[in-house]
This record gives sequence, C-alpha cells and structure tokens, in this order.
Amino acid sequence: MSKNFIKIAERINILPLQMSLIRQPELFGKRTFRSDSYASPHLQMTDIWVRYNAYDNLQKDQDKFNDVHDSVWYPEASAIPQIRPIVNWLMSHVEGERLGGILITKIPPGGRIESHVDSGWHAEYYEKYYIPIQNDEGAIFGFEDGVIEPSLGEVYWFSNRRPHWVINNSKRDRIALIICIRSHKENICLGQ
Ligand SMILES: [Fe+2]
Repeated sequence: MSKNFIKIAERINILPLQMSLIRQPELFGKRTFRSDSYASPHLQMTDIWVRYNAYDNLQKDQDKFNDVHDSVWYPEASAIPQIRPIVNWLMSHVEGERLGGILITKIPPGGRIESHVDSGWHAEYYEKYYIPIQNDEGAIFGFEDGVIEPSLGEVYWFSNRRPHWVINNSKRDRIALIICIRSHKENICLGQ
C-alpha cells in the first residue's frame, strides 16, 4: 500500500461535471499563473481556477499570493455548478472544516508534469484530493511507491509533499479535479 496516495471512494457521479466541461472548453487556460514560469513543472497544463486566493491579490503582490489566505470562489465556478455537489459530498466524507483551493487541470495527449514537490503555505496546510474527470488508459499519476491509474468515479487522497508527476500517454486530454480541504483532526495525514 502506498504511503503517498489512498483511494477513499468510488462510484461517485462525475458525469454532469464532465459534460459541462465538454460544453465549455473556453473555460480552460484563462489564468496562466501556474504555467507562466518557464521552469514550472506545470508548463504543459491548462487549468480552470475554481477557487483560491482572490485573483486581485495576485496583481497586488505576486510573491505573497500563496501565503496565508481565505479561498474564494472564482467566477468560473458559476459556469460549472455541477462541481458543488461533489465538493459538498467530499467535505462531509473527510470531515472537512475549511475548504481551500479547487482546480481543474488539463494535460494534452503526450503531455507530462515533471516530478516535483508542491511547497508553500497552501500546499502544506490543506489535504489534497484527486478526482479523475477524463482519464484514458496510459494517463497515470505517479509517486515514488506506485502509480494511480484511476477509473472514473474514484476519489484519491494524495500527498503533494512527496515527489509526484503525471504522464499522459493516452490519445485524449487528461482532465483532473483537485480539491484542497483542511479536515477536523489536527493531523489527518492519511499516509502516516
Ligand atoms: Fe503538484
């Protein structure tokens, strides 16, 4: 059993969200902060920012954007209300007390995210949950002690404080929903 990821649910219904995203491809890639740096491991990704530190704060002080903050819903969230039941269910499922960032990421066929560790206040404060929205065979989420080759409907907790990477060797985009939650227990880190 991996110390870096655990399947925590299966057979949740992601199809309404999947359909909503297919109908609104223009939502991807509006905010490029994560992939702007040439050195970023997220260079090949196009994202939908659903919830995070208020975007105005990025213009005010980019260096402090990932520091302590309250997440807010972005305008994109209102275009995909199908995400709300998933988030509400997950908050309950993991005894969530504080909802952090929510991101939908897209990696094209042949694309990859190089191995990296996420850092900063937000990365360390919240637990991370991964829900595949479109993931054909050949698209994998890798860790030092195993890989996630998910089926749709599954939900995973994972540690972004250990090296992780993504390879999309499938013929379609790999689309993933990432939800960040601080849970009730002081240290709920499932991998320890
Ligand atoms: Fe990461």
